[in-house]
Amino acid sequence: MVFRYSIEKPQSLAVESLVLFVPTFERIRDKFLKELDTASAGGITTILSSGEFTGKEGEVAAIIRPRGYKAQRAILVGLGEQKKLNPDSFRKAAGTVSRFRGLTTSKTAAFYLGSYENEKFYQAAIEGYLLGGFQLLDFKSRETKEHESKLAQITFAVENQVLLKKVRSKVERGAIIADGQLLVRRLSFTPANFLTPSKLAREARQLARKYRFNCQVLDEKAIYKEKMGGLLAVAKGSTESPRFIVLKYRGGRAAMKSIVLVGKGVTFDSGGISLKDRLNMHEMKGDMSGAAVVLAALVTAARLKLPLNLIGLMPTTENMPSGSATRPGDIITMRKGLTVEIINTDAEGRLILADTLDYAGKFGPEAVIDIATLTGASLYVLGYAGASILGNNPQLVDRLKKASDFTAEKVWEMPIWDDHRQLMKSEIADLVNSGGRQAGTIAASAFLENFIGDWPWAHIDIAYCDLEPHGKPYTPKGATGFGLRLLVELLSNWKKLR
Ligand code: BES
Ligand code: MN
Ligand code: ZN
Repeated sequence: MVFRYSIEKPQSLAVESLVLFVPTFERIRDKFLKELDTASAGGITTILSSGEFTGKEGEVAAIIRPRGYKAQRAILVGLGEQKKLNPDSFRKAAGTVSRFRGLTTSKTAAFYLGSYENEKFYQAAIEGYLLGGFQLLDFKSRETKEHESKLAQITFAVENQVLLKKVRSKVERGAIIADGQLLVRRLSFTPANFLTPSKLAREARQLARKYRFNCQVLDEKAIYKEKMGGLLAVAKGSTESPRFIVLKYRGGRAAMKSIVLVGKGVTFDSGGISLKDRLNMHEMKGDMSGAAVVLAALVTAARLKLPLNLIGLMPTTENMPSGSATRPGDIITMRKGLTVEIINTDAEGRLILADTLDYAGKFGPEAVIDIATLTGASLYVLGYAGASILGNNPQLVDRLKKASDFTAEKVWEMPIWDDHRQLMKSEIADLVNSGGRQAGTIAASAFLENFIGDWPWAHIDIAYCDLEPHGKPYTPKGATGFGLRLLVELLSNWKKLR
């Protein structure tokens, strides 16, 4: 895809499809709509009065061969109410238009962005376009190519020189971020027979080489040497051996402390001996979405050249039932030395995260943020709509909330109280790995808290946000890549925590 930037009027853009972003309107007031109405012999008046297009979210309409325009068609896409206009209005509109046949059958297009002053709108528009058109075709044998978009060039047109500079830098940035999110979607969508722990490690190594950051992979023996009893207990039931992936990106000054990102990388979660219900078990190929977000965050940070030092930690394993699997009732010893009574082998994520959070301490981190498809209880907390965040540092939680305002990946804080900590105590070991049915999302965090050092920590539970059940403007049905934009936005505005 080639991006071009120009200062041009809608009329002079010589492309197949001219895309116009339009807020709701009852009368034709905007200059460019008036001109288009005249050029199409009242075309806008017609689609407005028929109700076909009024600028609402989700609406698209095309006007073919407007006279006096160099473009073959003008595509109008609705932004919703002018009063409520925000970056996500552009993300959604661009996502909607990304699958519109008039556009996908064109080779060249222009997005006319006129005189919008808010440069975040530009970034959101390219993000929405690239995210909305995502399809995973790798596993289709035929009958697919015709659905692919032919679009090869987009010209971003604005009104003046100042905006031209802004649009270029924001579109470049947005494209890199969307790319990162698409990497998460691709990895999350890839089935577990194609994405084992060792294959995920290979993918990480290749990306690290390509984008010039460091990648080190601990195999089962090295994991054993690290005494990661939690990760080993989960991996024991599988014929695929685990990998512990360590990524390092150094874009900051040498003395700067690292920010550590931790992602759950269960490449398939059958539940183990506490086997899951068969319904939707296939979706557990996506139980490595947190790890994918971490990998993509390092790739994106490297591509954006963020002036930070980052560590990415991805504990990866399968959780399978077998004769060698960990049993309910077993007691294991974690890297930290704490003992855990396994009540339910399906509560495996917290075991691998706990060892990893403990390991994170050795970097003397500025902050540690973990992201994981951790608890099914998330469905009853915020549903598919957003992620719970928990942690020990209000400032860090606040920053995540702030980042989510722009990225529109919603997060909300949940507390960890002593009553929840109590749930995770064992009669005969230090901790249990499951506190039963109540407060599942919080209880998992109360477990993790035992492995946190004297540093700021935030935990993001993305269970269910990692999957879109129906399809939304820029989120086709399936893996969403939730969390990538959020972490990149957080890191892009990073200042030392007080
Ligand atoms: N990976 C699951 C959580 C999950 C469930 C993510 C559904 C996305 C969709 C996790 O490993 C798990 O099984 N958690 C259990 C813990 C319980 C046994 C304490 C859960 O939440 O049911
Ligand atoms: Mn599980
Ligand atoms: Zn899991």
